[in-house]
Amino acid sequence: MRIGVIGTGYVGLVTGTCFANLGNYVICADNNKKKIDALLKGKVPIYEPGLDELVVHNTKQKRLTFTTSIKKVVEKSDIIFIAVGTPSKKNGDADLSFVGAVAKQIAKYLTKYRIIVEKSTVPVKTGEWVKSTIERFARKNVKFDVASNPEFLREGTAIKDFLNPDRIVIGVSSKRAENMLKKLYAPLKSPILVTDVKSAEIIKHASNSFLATKISFINAVSNICEKVGADILKVAEGMGMDKRIGRQFLSAGLGFGGSCFPKDVDAFISISKKLGYDFDLLEEVRRVNARQIELFVSKIKSNLINLKDKTVGLLGLAFKPETDDMREAPSLKVIDWLKKQKIKVKVFDPKAMPKSKDLLKGVKFCKDTYELAKGCDCLLVITEWNEFKQLDLVRIKRLMKRNLIIDGRNIFDSVNLKNIGFKYISTGRGR
Ligand code: NAD
Ligand code: UGA
Repeated sequence: MRIGVIGTGYVGLVTGTCFANLGNYVICADNNKKKIDALLKGKVPIYEPGLDELVVHNTKQKRLTFTTSIKKVVEKSDIIFIAVGTPSKKNGDADLSFVGAVAKQIAKYLTKYRIIVEKSTVPVKTGEWVKSTIERFARKNVKFDVASNPEFLREGTAIKDFLNPDRIVIGVSSKRAENMLKKLYAPLKSPILVTDVKSAEIIKHASNSFLATKISFINAVSNICEKVGADILKVAEGMGMDKRIGRQFLSAGLGFGGSCFPKDVDAFISISKKLGYDFDLLEEVRRVNARQIELFVSKIKSNLINLKDKTVGLLGLAFKPETDDMREAPSLKVIDWLKKQKIKVKVFDPKAMPKSKDLLKGVKFCKDTYELAKGCDCLLVITEWNEFKQLDLVRIKRLMKRNLIIDGRNIFDSVNLKNIGFKYISTGRGR
């Protein structure tokens, strides 16, 4: 099939590349010329495992091309995916200006039937708005459908998630669009749920908000565990063994970050309010999430005691492992606090350092964990990269000035750390 994808970021690039790899002809467009120039040279601007190879392979096979021209996409594609960003506005609303701008441009070049698919995460009723925008700006009598096909991939495992989703949700208002989208997704062999457009939009917001709720719930429980010296890892395991609950998304720690959960919870709260419902439950989810960082920071304060002339090292910067994405990364808030206390900050992340250099001034970027540990009074585990779980902790301890590790992701065995001689403070595993 002939597919167009507008917005070549984490979702658009993965979507376009995977559709090309399934044998479709795909044009990916972005208004960021630098990004398109890089992609045309086979350079992938983000770190996502396995993506570079797939982009290069499908470009060589001439199934995947890149452009800055939306005109070209509209002319050459039967199905057009909108995958631009939908960030938060200051008041929590989803900023739909990128979606709106793309809808207008699509309308301008529309001459024959196309399906325009919302891949971006948008509030309910955005489909209606996109449809009326296109109607307003397109020539008369041109036929098109607007569909919603929310994306559930996670950064770091995006290709695997895209190709093996638990479900594919297709929100449509015509049989023609339903059949074309079903045909496109048929090779994936995953269950396809067909709904109306509004239900599909809500499925996405509700799913992300539910997962965020699960995380805040386990974080709240971890705080109770800390108070009595119980072990949140055992509690999560015990809860997760109940199939109705499940173990996933019950890892307590620094809370959820990234470009999706925080903004999508905000947007769901916001659209609910506009529709006349106060989603207080989600307000609390946000509060618990913010409090996790405050509690983490209070552990640094109480365990370092005197903050003067102290050096702290951060293991990890990215909002989660296997990505270089720094959007809403908890590390940013922790570093902000450390700098306000005039504590010297050293950082190391296996992939996110290039993207962090503009965001983080006045911190020392280290080449590895051992350079990081040297002279530190305290190490903070911020991102649970696998390589941190394999550290030579005896060597780390020798390099550090003091023996304190505060673990925001529970990656170490507390007995082992104590035997080596560390003072080890983790999350929800007693004090
Ligand atoms: P991103 O910021 O990585 O990519 C968005 C791209 O759109 C950018 O490259 C930007 O230059 C481009 N763009 C903006 N305006 C444009 C325009 N007028 N014309 C052409 N290109 C334009 O964002 P992302 O992380 O890929 O997220 C995109 C959407 O997908 C969001 O709504 C997000 O909530 C949703 N989503 C993201 C993920 C994820 O893991 N990142 C997963 C599921 C859904
Ligand atoms: C999330 C969802 O998992 C995807 O299904 C969805 O498509 C995507 O948002 C989106 O809509 O953009 P992602 O943000 O890439 O994906 O990463 P997750 O693995 O979900 O982690 C999100 C945050 O929650 C991270 O900061 C992570 O550290 C935190 N988290 C996750 C926890 O604190 N505990 C957990 O148990 C799980």
